[in-house]
Amino acid sequence: MAVKHVAPGPDALTMLKNLAAIRSDTTGFLMNMHQKYGAIVQYPVPIPAFSISNPETVDYVLRSNARNYAKQTLQYKSLSIVTGEGLLTADGEIWKSHRKVLQPAFHRAMQSLVIESIEDSYLVLQEKWTNNPEVEIAAAMQHLTLEVVGRALFGKSLSGESEAIASATIAALDVVVAKAQMPLPIPTWVPTKNHRKLNRAIRQLDEAVEQLLLSPATHPDAFISLLREAHETDPQKFDIKAIRDEIVTFIVAGHETVASAMAWMWQLLNENNEILHTCISEAKSAPHLNDLAQVPYLQSVFAETMRLYPPAWLITRSTISNDTLEGIEIPANALIIMSPYMLQHQGSWQDPEKFDPSRFSDPQSQLARSEYLPFGLGARMCIGRDMALVEGPLLMARILRDFDVRPTNDWSDVGMTQSVTLHPASPMLAKLSRI
Ligand code: HEM
Repeated sequence: MAVKHVAPGPDALTMLKNLAAIRSDTTGFLMNMHQKYGAIVQYPVPIPAFSISNPETVDYVLRSNARNYAKQTLQYKSLSIVTGEGLLTADGEIWKSHRKVLQPAFHRAMQSLVIESIEDSYLVLQEKWTNNPEVEIAAAMQHLTLEVVGRALFGKSLSGESEAIASATIAALDVVVAKAQMPLPIPTWVPTKNHRKLNRAIRQLDEAVEQLLLSPATHPDAFISLLREAHETDPQKFDIKAIRDEIVTFIVAGHETVASAMAWMWQLLNENNEILHTCISEAKSAPHLNDLAQVPYLQSVFAETMRLYPPAWLITRSTISNDTLEGIEIPANALIIMSPYMLQHQGSWQDPEKFDPSRFSDPQSQLARSEYLPFGLGARMCIGRDMALVEGPLLMARILRDFDVRPTNDWSDVGMTQSVTLHPASPMLAKLSRI
């Protein structure tokens, strides 16, 4: 049955002509479409698909009427090839019961474990960078954040496996995105080059899971302890597959996102000398760098970085029953596309393209704005938000305090790859010298 057009939007020919741009610059394409057609745009694809740009409507979908919006979308189905039915992709009862089991690992009381993990992880990388000062910044940040996830969630250093896990994550996510963009998806059992790469990456992640399950837990409320306890209490509901899916989900969701924000922060600091110097003085004058309150300016720089470069730049949902958005009747099983990137670059922000951390000098007031959603909104909001908000500024502060970071290639025009997260399109090479 042909899809009924209920909202304005481009025709099939325009979509076809823009196919390359849609793939390489989806956010630019979405913003163009909204400028042309208004707050809701429908796309001529085989299922009813709409993007929305009005913050109140996004809030309605993600928060006030979230019950009618599921994660059964192409984006999350593709991601689940890697993560299985983990917290990020699951819906309904499975999501609800898993979130309840895992939430205590992210309570405020657990922040001391996060801070301890930041300190220990940083020391590992500090030594590595002192001995090998030539780095690629995005990869270096990825190794650092992976080390933090390993220690904070699993009570284990991942430095031995980190190279393999980091590259397996990137490889798996890139193939997942390439698959999601194919007009006719090829089943994963067909041995294409990409599928072999994907299966190799999944095998590597599974091997890491096996190692993690063997490691001793640190704290009764640590993530890995909660998973083990859930398995022991109800081995049917929380079987080995469920545990594997959660571990892979948290490895993937817990490090690439923070690393992406930190890589962009380096790029922006390199372009904005005055802001860089304010960050360095704050980092050097803070006594121990084990408390977020010591780095208010770095917090606002991190928040502003995620406004310009929200790592999770695309959020999708599928309607369960029909609903009305922007006065338009949306059918059941329709795809709803929302983009934190688009909302955070819109005209409601004064001079939206300017990097201006002073917007967040009172982080609480800005973080509460409905146009600012780097961590999503509502019940499905990021479970690792508080961890990320501690991790980013404190890690950046430590590096700025101890190292002089000199770019050895041009970072001014690195370009942006819109994969599962936003990451710099070309390498950002640097030499790190101990101060
Ligand atoms: C700067 C860092 C981060 C960003 C920008 C980010 C972004 C997001 C966003 C936008 C969502 C919601 C997606 C949706 O509604 O469809 C989300 C969910 C999630 N994030 Fe994060 N995240 C970050 C860090 C982390 C960390 C550190 C962890 C774990 C240690 C984590 C684990 C998760 C999980 C498991 C979910 C699914 C939660 C649920 O549905 O119950 N994230 N994240």
